[in-house]
Amino acid sequence: MSRDKNIPFARPCIGPEEEAAVLRVLRSGWLTTGREALAFEAEFTRFLEGPRGGLPPLHSLTVNSATSGLHLALEACGIGAGDLVLVPSYTFVSTAEVVRYLQGEVVFVDTAPGTFHIDPKALEATLARLRRGEAAYPKPHGSGSFGPRGTPKAVIPVHYGGLPCAMDAIITIARQYGLKVIEDAAHAFPSQLSNGTWAGTIGDLGVFSFYATKTLTTAEGGMVVSRDQEIARRIRLMRSHGIDRSVWNRYTDTRASWYYEVVAAGYKYNMPDLLAALGRVQLARAGELLDRRKKIAARYDAAFQDEGSLSLPPTGPGDARHLYPLRLNLEILSISRDGFIEKIQAADVGVSVHFIPLHSMPYYRERYGLTEGDLPESMRSFQRAISLPLWPMMQDSEVERVIEVVKTIAQEHRSA
Ligand SMILES: Cc1ncc(COP(=O)(O)O)c(C=O)c1O
Repeated sequence: MSRDKNIPFARPCIGPEEEAAVLRVLRSGWLTTGREALAFEAEFTRFLEGPRGGLPPLHSLTVNSATSGLHLALEACGIGAGDLVLVPSYTFVSTAEVVRYLQGEVVFVDTAPGTFHIDPKALEATLARLRRGEAAYPKPHGSGSFGPRGTPKAVIPVHYGGLPCAMDAIITIARQYGLKVIEDAAHAFPSQLSNGTWAGTIGDLGVFSFYATKTLTTAEGGMVVSRDQEIARRIRLMRSHGIDRSVWNRYTDTRASWYYEVVAAGYKYNMPDLLAALGRVQLARAGELLDRRKKIAARYDAAFQDEGSLSLPPTGPGDARHLYPLRLNLEILSISRDGFIEKIQAADVGVSVHFIPLHSMPYYRERYGLTEGDLPESMRSFQRAISLPLWPMMQDSEVERVIEVVKTIAQEHRSA
């Protein structure tokens, strides 16, 4: 195998326009939240807002990460101590930790077989159990239940890897049980459902991440979107210390009022203009970046589809292709997933695993008395997943090298 240079797992796509935008803000005399953030919000809304068909207008609100966006979303939905929030175990820790910030209790839901997404059937079964007054998880062999019990208030489906969840089923179940739906769209800009609506705009709120490895980056950052004016108002207030009005211009506008009032114990979750300027350029390039990711993913699909020991990631036409989670058919391989990863890394190709199921993490395991086997599909997905590099500036030769490395290892370790 040729080894000209390392191929990192991820690399942001930053060009001269991003550099110029950041420089413009650096030279402007105003670095933190202000006009750029407001413009980014307006442009983001314009991007996602299709024909509304009678729906209320969409509000977009910049924040300093998707984690803080999820926290604000739950807070705005009134989640508090003892409230239950249902989340997939198969996600990054942010999706669950924000529930604990508010002293809510996390209820993990298993993955639908053969996917990386929350299983609507498992969601409904959990809600039905809670409604009957039982605890969240059935004990093995039908001998009662364990874990949190109480009133479920919200569900956070995760559009894992950029592929939208089964939102119709999730919304139907959520409405039936009176749950708020907060879409974790951290991976899903821009992802579309089959009817053309954008992931993140379907539930009560959607939260996008602009972390350095994401499909649109501001280094760190996020956007919360909602059509609910009250929710948007609360988030605007709480992302900025609970201060009752926008005061960013009090230092730049010599006539701006210095006076403000604090009406709630809020947070400091605002996005600086320096980062919003970067986001605006990346947003304008969203189509170009998506096309390139789709081309790379399609090349991987074509190269791996006949390799019996590998299964392609589930995908669909509206997939933003943020991740490429290849799956190993371990039954016909003489190498473990971890061994496979070591061999890829030894060939100087960066890989990752998305995700280690949260119910297997010490904190959640101990808090809720969970064992790995309690959410078997999530563990099954985890045990065979390897995320391959997928970033727009990858050269064709780099894509081919990743393919060669992966196929060679798979062929050398076919046990059947
Ligand atoms: C599914 C998911 N949700 C939320 C987040 C949190 O995003 P951020 O890093 O912007 O807080 C991540 C980050 O990787 C994620 O993968």
